[in-house]
Formats: sequence, C-alpha cells, structure tokens
Amino acid sequence: MTVLVTGGAGYIGSHTVRQLRERGTHVVVLDTLELGYREALLGAELVVGDIADIALVTQLCRTYGVRQVVHFAAYKNVGESMLQPAKYWLNNVTGTVHLAEALLAAGVDQIVFSSSCSVYGTPEVVPVTEAAVVQPESVYAESKATTERVLGWYGATHGLRAVSLRYFNAAGASFDSQIGEDWAHSQNLVPVAMKAALGVRPPLQVFGNDYPTHDGTCIRDYIHVDDLADAHLRALDHLAAGKGTAAFNVGTGVGSSVLDVISTTERLSGRKVPHEFVARRAGDPVSTFADPSRAFEVLGWQARYGLEEIIATAWQWHSTHPDGYVSR
Ligand code: WQD
Repeated sequence: MTVLVTGGAGYIGSHTVRQLRERGTHVVVLDTLELGYREALLGAELVVGDIADIALVTQLCRTYGVRQVVHFAAYKNVGESMLQPAKYWLNNVTGTVHLAEALLAAGVDQIVFSSSCSVYGTPEVVPVTEAAVVQPESVYAESKATTERVLGWYGATHGLRAVSLRYFNAAGASFDSQIGEDWAHSQNLVPVAMKAALGVRPPLQVFGNDYPTHDGTCIRDYIHVDDLADAHLRALDHLAAGKGTAAFNVGTGVGSSVLDVISTTERLSGRKVPHEFVARRAGDPVSTFADPSRAFEVLGWQARYGLEEIIATAWQWHSTHPDGYVSR
C-alpha cells in the first residue's frame, strides 16, 4: 500500500515523508519543486508534477497502488494571498478539485488535508476548539476553509473520507538537522529570529508591544514540525481504520509570546536577537492557541515537544545551514 504525498518536498511535507518511510510505509511524492527541495526528501521517490494534472495523478495512483493521500501542496503566504488572490483560488482550491477528480478515477478514497488555524481568523475564545467559528481573515485562510468544505462535499457525493488538520504555528526542525525549514521563502517569526541572531538580516521587527498580554507582544501556539508530522500519521491510521471525515486542531495548547521566542532563542543560541518594536501588523490576533483535546481523544495524538525543543532544533538547523538547502 502506497501513500501519495503532494507537496512532500516542502517543510512539513518532508518531515511527514520521513516519518512515514521510517515506519515502513512506501511513499511517492508529487511536487512541482517550485517551493520544495529534492534534498529535503532524503531519497524518497519523487514525481515532479502538478496536482492539477488529472491524467498524471490518476496514472501515478494506479501505477503505485496508492490507497491514501496526504495533501500539502498549496501556497501559504498570507500577505501574498491578499495581493494575488487568483493564485490562491486556482492552486489551493481548484487544484484540490482536480486532485480529488484524479483520486476518484483511481479509486482512492482517503485523504489527509493540510489545513490551518487561520481558518478561525481572530478567535473570540482561547484556547481554540474545533467548535470555534470559522471566519477566515485572508484569502489564504479562506482557501483552506473552502478546501475543507469541498472535500466534505466529495465525501457526501462520492464517499471520499477526509481528515483536515488545522495547524497552529509550525516551527523547528528535525533533531538530527537533516531537514528543516528552508528560509528562502519564510517570513515566519522563528526563522526570522534565527536569521537575526545569525546576523544575516536586519534586526527583527516586533509587530507591536502594546497588546494586552503578559509582555505586550502577541501570543501563538508554536508546534514542533515533528509533532505535526506525527499527527498526519495518526490521521492516516484513523482513515485506514474506516473512520470518517473530521477536522482537528493541531497545536500544543500552550501560548508563547514573541518576546518568549526571542528570549528562548537568546538563551539557547548564546547570541542576542537584535530586534526593534514597530507598529502592529494588520490582522494579527492578540492571542491564539489550541485546545488539542479532540485530536488526543479521537486520534490518540498529542504534542511531545515545546518551545525549548522548537528553538533548539531551529537554531541547530539554521546555524548549520546558512543557505537552507543546497541551492537548486
Ligand atoms: C507569529 C507572531 C507576528 C514576524 C502563521 C501562518 C498561518 C498559520 C499560523 C499555517 C505574530 C509576530 C512575526 C516578524 C513579528 N499556519 N512576528 N515579526 O501570523 O501567527 O501565522 O502560523 O497555516 O498560515 O502564517 O505567524 O510567524 O507570521 O507570526 O513580530 O518579523 O510573530 O506579529 O504575532 P502567524 P508569523
């Protein structure tokens, strides 16, 4: 039985591919390599192509005997999505429709979907449960919420069973520094803090320190990428056991502030993180962190790592890979 991983050459995808292979699952990756890196696959089988290519995906599923899919392939830059919305509708939503059509043609009826806590927008209550109102505040987030619903309808009309994993803030790297986040494209806090500590970028700009939190900076639920990867394996097991479509929040349940990230980075790296306080960033929730209890109850999943391991592995990766992966 083979698992198809779309976008498997990306950050969370590559960590998931590695864990699947380590447990003995045969994996085939479909990736355009537009944003992913062959080096991140550690030798996993790769087909370079697009999820929208129905003929390619149908053939690939039949050739490899694919029974399940983990679907990571998507654009994920919130700011870009507001400037180039069509790029996100076409790739993230329409691309998934094409993928689903190929899966039906090949008789594949189980998919784990890479969703996002950003479907909740600014949550009214924290910690955030799956019952929270889905109210996206960006085209990117809307593309994730819409794709969840599209997959739900493929379940109603064609029996496709889907588990949507709503990630909180993915961060960190593999414990052996073999793979990590390629920072070429990322503007997320942890890689940006690493670059500032390494002195390879201007000081980190802290987007506001006048929020009603313990230190005035925003709070997020940072979750180790290996914990995220493990959640995908549990979701595949859930589907393999015949269980139905569902969505789960995937976070630690613990909130950390921007200054918590900075101070932890300084302590573990032994370096200062040059930073300056600037204006708030539009759309930033003051605080968001998960209530992950449903994922524990239903999937038997819970995070094993916290901010210490996230920052330690991120530092180890970024300080030994100043240019991310080997350039193409
Ligand atoms: C984190 C905090 C910023 C950069 C991300 C993804 C989203 C979803 C959740 C997956 C915020 C502050 C950041 C900087 C800063 N994940 N910050 N200076 O916005 O929480 O959302 O994770 O889908 O899609 O985008 O992540 O890393 O941008 O910000 O002060 O240079 O760090 O204000 O409070 P965010 P982030």
